[in-house]
Amino acid sequence: MDNRIITSEKLKEDGFEATIRPQTIDEYIGQKDIKENIRIFMSAAKMRGQALDHVLLYGPPGLGKTTMAYVIANEMGANIKTASGPTIEKSGDLAAILSSLDEGDVLFIDEIHRIPRFVEEILYSAMEDFTLDIIVGGEGSNRNLRIDLPHFTLVGATTRAGDLSAPLRDRFGIVAKLNYYTEEEITKIIKRSAGVLNLVIDDEAAKELANRCRRTPRIANRLLKRVSDFALVKGDGTITLDITKYALDSLKVDKLGLDEVDYELLKTIIYKFNGGPVGIEAIAASIGEEVSTIEDVCEPYLLQIGYLKRTPRGRIVTDVAYRHLGIDKNLGCK
Ligand SMILES: Nc1ncnc2c1ncn2[C@@H]1O[C@H](COP(=O)(O)OP(=O)(O)O)[C@@H](O)[C@H]1O
Ligand SMILES: [Mg+2]
Repeated sequence: MDNRIITSEKLKEDGFEATIRPQTIDEYIGQKDIKENIRIFMSAAKMRGQALDHVLLYGPPGLGKTTMAYVIANEMGANIKTASGPTIEKSGDLAAILSSLDEGDVLFIDEIHRIPRFVEEILYSAMEDFTLDIIVGGEGSNRNLRIDLPHFTLVGATTRAGDLSAPLRDRFGIVAKLNYYTEEEITKIIKRSAGVLNLVIDDEAAKELANRCRRTPRIANRLLKRVSDFALVKGDGTITLDITKYALDSLKVDKLGLDEVDYELLKTIIYKFNGGPVGIEAIAASIGEEVSTIEDVCEPYLLQIGYLKRTPRGRIVTDVAYRHLGIDKNLGCK
């Protein structure tokens, strides 16, 4: 999974991401409804001279959650401080972060669903009343201490909103679900990234890439870079349709942006579990992946394009997927 070019998770080679991130809400392409709402909330907060209400962004990896957090901070003229759920293990970790905040700061917590419950509770009063309740002292001489915090905006990001506790979720004034981009939007993103990276790409090439990147900006940008390498070595540097097709075929990314991992997942359900329904645990055990990786990274796009269906009894491979794979459903073999 680590070397999977089509993964929506961040890879080492995506180090260039920060350089092509949109900085302003106007540069941020797509997610129209979210942008419209956030624009209004930001204007209102500015007019009141207050920090923006807390924002929860959720959706599959690579769709622009971190980017949006930075855009919000930038548009509010605020400093951004960042933290990540898995690194917040103790109450003290979170208390240290909160007490380092200044008035108006944006605190971005990525993978916020991974903060342990007993630590998360500290966030409740911090978000609601801007106070930090901590216990000081040793055994027998514990004292509760209440510290006032500056007014800040918490921006939380998660791939699994369902894993968030209700009390935490309820404390976000703005909850936004990021969706897969349309062909038109992702084409725009590809052209914008090409411009920032000084790459020349033909219109048909951008369109081809748009259809093979799972409508995910992170994957689009990564593939764009790879395709530009092919263009440089095999052509004159211009990213043409032919080069794009050649490069993506070489990278084993199919016409729909599916790769070997997707094929393995679908074929496992078809051949080992008769097309489903089958529980996610059985699939995970069968292909040797974590349940969470399948749920967060592999599945969302297959569900989105209707190749997989979730039912109360498990996952089912749909007829369109059989057709795409060239497998006769009745024979169950190629
Ligand atoms: N709406 C967008 N417009 C343009 N580029 C985007 C957009 N959303 C994401 N990107 C690009 O995709 C990359 C990955 O986005 P990121 O915000 O890190 O995703 P997430 O945090 O949801 O995993 C960013 O580097 C950015 O360049
Ligand atoms: Mg992110």
